[in-house]
Amino acid sequence: MRVNYQDLAKTVAALTEGETDEVALMATVVCELHHADDRFDWTGFYRVTEPEVLKIGPYQGGHGCLVIPFSRGVCGAAARTNETQLVDDVEAFPGHIACSSSTRSEIVLPVHNAKGAVIGVLDIDSDQPAAFDEEDAMALESLLAQVFGKL
Ligand code: SME
Repeated sequence: MRVNYQDLAKTVAALTEGETDEVALMATVVCELHHADDRFDWTGFYRVTEPEVLKIGPYQGGHGCLVIPFSRGVCGAAARTNETQLVDDVEAFPGHIACSSSTRSEIVLPVHNAKGAVIGVLDIDSDQPAAFDEEDAMALESLLAQVFGKL
């Protein structure tokens, strides 16, 4: 099953109408995303809780590491560079943090608030190699702007 991002955006909009709590919004996005696509084996947010530090937020899948400095991992790279990270082969990514040995590819996107500040990252891991593409990146960036760009 492959996600229909247009339908998912409408569902998330309906479920989160009027909600401004960051964690509630993250939990809803993760739940709807994770169950929408067979490629998504771990779906979760890391939040910026202090300068240069990410801490785990709502997620679905096996346990994830709790704290990631901006200097480490794919998540740190997304937060540090403010750019979406599309990783076809996690073993080829310098400093990749393996929360699961089965992960083969990953996409990580910075999450911005209304002021454009990075408030966290969305991390989706797949056990399939090269599972993500530019269509995923654009659609996920749009979804994140829809949900968190109002905060
Ligand atoms: N792979 C991520 C770490 C988070 S676990 O995958 C849930 C990284 O390299 O930053």
